[in-house]
Amino acid sequence: MADPKAVRLDGDQTLVDQTLSEKLSSWNDRWLFPVRKLASEAMKDADPGHGIEHVERVFKNACELIGQNPVSLDVLLPAIWLHDCVPIAKNSPLRSQASRLCAKRAIELLASIGYPSESYPGIEHAIAAHSFSANIPCESDEAKILQDADRLEGLGAIGLARCLMTGGSMGQRLVHPTDPFPIHRTPEDNVQSVDHFYAKLFRLPSMMNTPEGRTLAQSRCGILITFLRQLAEEMGFEFDQQHAQSIIEANAIKPNFSKPS
Ligand SMILES: [Fe+2]
Ligand SMILES: [Fe+2]
Repeated sequence: MADPKAVRLDGDQTLVDQTLSEKLSSWNDRWLFPVRKLASEAMKDADPGHGIEHVERVFKNACELIGQNPVSLDVLLPAIWLHDCVPIAKNSPLRSQASRLCAKRAIELLASIGYPSESYPGIEHAIAAHSFSANIPCESDEAKILQDADRLEGLGAIGLARCLMTGGSMGQRLVHPTDPFPIHRTPEDNVQSVDHFYAKLFRLPSMMNTPEGRTLAQSRCGILITFLRQLAEEMGFEFDQQHAQSIIEANAIKPNFSKPS
């Protein structure tokens, strides 16, 4: 297990004499204002679930995941702030290209403020790989942490709210009228928002890269289960919790029926 204080700053150099918070402060003092400003301006037209507040929460999630993992903050932090810097709607045909477009744009933005170029390859990879629909394997700890931190945003109270907000903005209905918690049909998460739980969100815990991320993801799935149980009761439907739980625990769904988002 790596020393929790170890924060690799560049190459193989590992500094064990400075705490994570000190390293964060050091990066923030130099780069937070200009990098956050770039992100904020780039995302000003994003939908409500994907604005700068989303990025701030991803940063907070990432801080919880860094603990035991030595990472380059010079790579991870700009990757977090700029990972969604090109707003592309969830239902856009460009969706599968979104993270690659963000990665390319992030480097252009960072170059415009003189950010050190030796971090560009790591930043570009972490951003390109973060997306569910890009299908790019994470090859660095920075990429794994960004991906986990971003995926945690799909779960818990925030994830529930973002799912319904995004579904509403795309004109989706909440549930299928006769089979609201898809048992006898394939989830269609471009039609019903609750189907997105079954098509993607319940699969996230098994897709986490870090043990810390998996634990948090499983816990946050509990919020979604509680919501569905109450929804079922209020609508007068049965809710098969075992079915939902089996997806969370074993990823026991066909991998090809999810609409990427
Ligand atoms: Fe994204
Ligand atoms: Fe994101």
